[in-house]
Amino acid sequence: MGALKAVILVGGGGTRLHPLTYEIPKAMVPVLNRPFLEHTIAYLKNYKVKDIILALNYLPEVIQNYFGDGSNSGVPLNYAVEDNPLGTAGAVKNAERYLTSTFVVLNGDVFTDLDIADMVAFHRGKGAKATIGLTWVDDPCAFGVVETDSDGRVRRFIEKPSPAQVTTNWINAGVYLLEPEVLQHVPPNTHYMFEKGLFPLLLKLGEPVYGYPSNGYFLDMGTPGNYLRLNCDLLLLKAKSALVGSLSREGVGCDKEVIIHPSAEVVGPAVIGSKCRIDPKACIKGPVVIGSNCHIGEDANIEVAVLWRGVNIGAGVTLKQCILGTNTKIEDNEQVINAVVTSDKARVALIEGSYS
Ligand code: GDD
Ligand code: MG
Repeated sequence: MGALKAVILVGGGGTRLHPLTYEIPKAMVPVLNRPFLEHTIAYLKNYKVKDIILALNYLPEVIQNYFGDGSNSGVPLNYAVEDNPLGTAGAVKNAERYLTSTFVVLNGDVFTDLDIADMVAFHRGKGAKATIGLTWVDDPCAFGVVETDSDGRVRRFIEKPSPAQVTTNWINAGVYLLEPEVLQHVPPNTHYMFEKGLFPLLLKLGEPVYGYPSNGYFLDMGTPGNYLRLNCDLLLLKAKSALVGSLSREGVGCDKEVIIHPSAEVVGPAVIGSKCRIDPKACIKGPVVIGSNCHIGEDANIEVAVLWRGVNIGAGVTLKQCILGTNTKIEDNEQVINAVVTSDKARVALIEGSYS
């Protein structure tokens, strides 16, 4: 496979992770204590992507300051910053100056292990102008449904269908291979979407648009439940990150200067960030991720949780199936179950399902 360039769509779009994404772009939320986007960059790097363009609009400086020119990530990074959100296709049009041969586009909130090298071979083999990575989901209504014929050619694209419109469970996985010439159909400096604009237009024009089905891992982490699930799936080895070395199913990975009292119990899988302190008789049962500088009080019970950095858990607290934002403090003996809590205590109790 020749060297590819990639555009990652890193829009605001954080409303569904509310309230966690008020102060931090969705792409920077910690997954196993590393920004989500870092996992994505490592994934692309595995496919010898030689240049990544981050299409940004919301809090761009947070991302630019963290990643810089990409030298720490091992892939050169460029930025295409929008003054106003240009939509998914408009954001790529805004990066057009970098794109002169077949390139990859990735939704910035998708975690997948879809085989890009194989997808490129498929794209070339079909002579496609656009190839859409497809994944199978139980309920396609929150996604873009993609109907293909027996040769894989896309017949119809329906974004966010009503249940009655669903004709297949294969959906757009948010990974595209595109030829640069398709961008001629995208108006510059205008809000324009792939999903409702460019893809339907290419179909109307009779251009070869193909769907590449994949049965690998796929998750859109843009809701609190899915964000929690992604952390758990990685710890439970249901998904693998190109960024993180080997984890073990029962393992407890501690960063430096972690103090765990001998009477505390930590059952993996768990990742504990630097300078955490775990007090006597606290009980932590994975899958759990604890950010740096957290304090877990005496007799606290934590099960299936993601704690960002600087979280302070009082004595006797019970946490189950929850996400705690940076610097959140939970008072002694409180119970937090199926909830997102942030330091300002805006609480969203909407994490349902089973994660372990
Ligand atoms: N730069 C930039 N500018 N990025 C944007 C903009 C924009 O104006 N609008 C959206 N994005 C980014 C979002 O940040 C996200 O990373 C990606 O584009 C997709 O937007 P979402 O808002 O997360 O869309 P969705 O999840 O409802 O649906 C999309 O993804 C599904 C797969 O997860 C669609 O592409 C569906 O068809 C698809 O099935
Ligand atoms: Mg999304």
